[in-house]
Formats: sequence, C-alpha cells, structure tokens
Amino acid sequence: MAKAAVMAVERGADFIDLNLGCPLDAITRRGGGAVLLERPRRVGEIVATLRAAVEVPISIKVRTGWRDEKPTAIPVARAAVDAGADAIIVHGRSRAQRYRRPTDWAFIGEVRAAVEVPVIGNGDIAGPADLNEKRALSGCDGVKVARAALVKPWIFGELREGVVRDLSSRERCRS
Ligand SMILES: Cc1cc2nc3c(=O)[nH]c(=O)nc-3n(C[C@H](O)[C@H](O)[C@H](O)COP(=O)(O)O)c2cc1C
Repeated sequence: MAKAAVMAVERGADFIDLNLGCPLDAITRRGGGAVLLERPRRVGEIVATLRAAVEVPISIKVRTGWRDEKPTAIPVARAAVDAGADAIIVHGRSRAQRYRRPTDWAFIGEVRAAVEVPVIGNGDIAGPADLNEKRALSGCDGVKVARAALVKPWIFGELREGVVRDLSSRERCRS
C-alpha cells in the first residue's frame, strides 16, 4: 500500500483515497475493499503505514458496513482518524445491500458526529434539491457524486449554483 501511495504521489497525486467500499467478490475475497470494514484495527494499521509514507492528505471511503445489521463504519472511521486520516467519505449503504435501498444519510450524520475530520457523504445525489436535503440531514461537510455524473456530467455546476439546467442536445455534447 505504501509503495503504491508513493508511486501515485510521485506521479502527481495530491491526495490518497483508500477504497474500503468496493463490493466486488474479486477484490473482497483477497482481503481488500469492503471486507476491511470488518477489521477496524487493520484499517488503522494501513492508514498509519500510508501516513508514514506520504505527506499528501489521506481519506478513506467506506460503506456503512459489510452487513446491514452490523454497521462498522464508525469504529473503522475512528481507527483511520486516530492513525492520521484527514477525511472520511461515507457511502450510506452496506456491502450486502448493494444499490437496493436508498442511502442512509442519517447514518452518515452519525459518522459525522463521531470524528473531528471532514466527512463527505455519498449516495443518491442527483441535483441541488438532494444536496440541500442530504446535507441538512447529515451535517456532512461535502458530498461525492458518482452515477449522476455519468448521466449528466454538468451536475457539478448545478450543485455549485443551486439550479437544475435543462441543456439542449448540443450543450450536452459540449459539456
Ligand atoms: C461504474 C461505477 C464504478 C465505481 N467505481 C468506484 C471506485 O473505483 N471507487 C469507489 O470508491 N467507488 C466506486 N463506485 C461507487 C461510487 O463511488 C459511489 O460510492 C456509489 O455509486 C454511490 O454514489 P451515487 O449514488 O452518487 O452513485 C463506483 C460506482 C459505479 C456506478
């Protein structure tokens, strides 16, 4: 991990984000991604190793936990912050849940309350109304947008300006 982080920084990365949310069997079977949500101590060790290796900010990206009934994101976030992580990104779904139910933004708020670094919420943001509602619900410091950006890459302007843009087909192609 440290070697990979150093390589990334040497090639211009200005922060390192550790993906502890990946649900894919090919990754979790080998001990990576969301399976690490079951191992807060291990996460702390990884973050400490990264912290010693690079000077750029380090974040971790988590889901609520591996299973719905056992959320572990808070001890994982705590361990990461104690080891030197600078921010926590929370996708408010468990690994088991995949995309089946809406994101739990109240839980993201619980993570927010448990750590003293910025918490970035993630899940189901599709426009300015979602942004306002989810930020109010969670108190998160920022949001991360994934699928909606594949549908409308101009969503970041919408979120910044607080307006929904109905672009013409020509404008869509240009954006
Ligand atoms: C095609 C695709 C690829 C993704 N790859 C990653 C990834 O490499 N790292 C990561 O942390 N999350 C990845 N995600 C998850 C998203 O970052 C995000 O957590 C999830 O889609 C929920 O946010 P959304 O509702 O805005 O899509 C991916 C999602 C999709 C749809």
